[in-house]
Amino acid sequence: MASPATKSTTLVLRGGVLSFRDDPFRAGVDASRVFESDGAVAIRDGRIVAAGNARQVIAQVPADAQVACYDHALIAPGFIDCHVHYPQLPIIGAGGKPLLDWLDAYTFPAEQRYVDADFAREVARLYLRENLRNGITTASVFGTVHAHSVDVVFEEAKALGLRLLAGKALMDRNAPAALLDTAQRGYDESKALIERWHGRGRLAYAITPRFAATSTPAQLEAASALWREFPGTYVQSHVAESQAELQWIRTLYPGHRSYLEVYGDYGLLGRRAVYAHALHVDDADLGSGQFDLARARHPARPVNIGLATDLGAGTHFSMLRTMQAASEVAHLRGSPLAPARAWWLATAGAAEALDLSGVVGNLAPGGEADLCVLDLRATPLLAFRMQHVRDIDEALAVLLALGDDRAVRATYVAGSKVWDRDEGTS
Ligand code: GUN
Ligand code: ZN
Repeated sequence: MASPATKSTTLVLRGGVLSFRDDPFRAGVDASRVFESDGAVAIRDGRIVAAGNARQVIAQVPADAQVACYDHALIAPGFIDCHVHYPQLPIIGAGGKPLLDWLDAYTFPAEQRYVDADFAREVARLYLRENLRNGITTASVFGTVHAHSVDVVFEEAKALGLRLLAGKALMDRNAPAALLDTAQRGYDESKALIERWHGRGRLAYAITPRFAATSTPAQLEAASALWREFPGTYVQSHVAESQAELQWIRTLYPGHRSYLEVYGDYGLLGRRAVYAHALHVDDADLGSGQFDLARARHPARPVNIGLATDLGAGTHFSMLRTMQAASEVAHLRGSPLAPARAWWLATAGAAEALDLSGVVGNLAPGGEADLCVLDLRATPLLAFRMQHVRDIDEALAVLLALGDDRAVRATYVAGSKVWDRDEGTS
């Protein structure tokens, strides 16, 4: 059953409550992460009214507020997936190949099926429902080259009240003919999608040159012109994911200082530009060495970073598992990632990366009430292990280590419960 926080109703969720008062990379974990074991979040008209200590929150709400109690649970901001390809659900787990071979062998064949709008809708529905099952309430999504692949995901997101960024892939070379547009057609179709969807409710358009290798210079110019024409839209793409890709880009785009600078030189960097991967970048690109979370988040370097599933190259929807993977990589690189920082990168930090601070990703009053409720006893092992945690940071670490979709007990979007693990989708 949905629990709408309608105009006349305030909804109060009770349980442990996690939020952020600052960036834990900049201000430190203790000064940033806020946890109330006896906490509450009050919601009205789809927005957060108050969050924190239950007694203090309840003192602020009308006596007729509706209350939902979640025992042994953590109420947290809904997760944000900064980069994902919904059309790639049919190839999740098709691995064993380097990037460029993977694109040719699995991805491009799979994306050709989206010429069929009914198929696209079926996958978009599954994709969004999986997001909700995993507590993901905002995502930045790639469609295929087919404009209707974006129409269907926006339509389905709108029906659920979800905040979503999405765009049709721009590709005018180096892919099968069935997946190619032209600079002009890509521009025209993207413009029509912007006019149809951008700023409608919680939806935003992302101009989506897939990566420089599948766009001619003319297409990057057209993408850039469109971005300038429609301020407030996003740009999303890929950069520097593999060495072979880097070398290919050097031959396709000679004369640019770096791969990232190809995008820079075409006017495709800046606020609201979201680039996936950025693994092989140099000092001038990021003011850092190779992509290295600790250094990239150094206070002196203003690089906004968010976590992403990158399905279907990525293999799971769970942001808990994505955080765990980020922690493992950080550990291997010799600078362990504090769990509260991982959590921030999947919520408030991801919101900052998508220029949505104060809108989603946190529990500050006035923000949109997108939340997930995590069950600290979701599995027998999790329940057992949670008995032995000493503090919230250890509890967060344990959720990353042992949690997955089973731990997502409920998901709220704009104050309405849209997923309940024990009841199904509302
Ligand atoms: N680079 C260009 N296209 C893609 C894609 O679909 N997935 C990933 N991971 N990298 C890409
Ligand atoms: Zn990707």
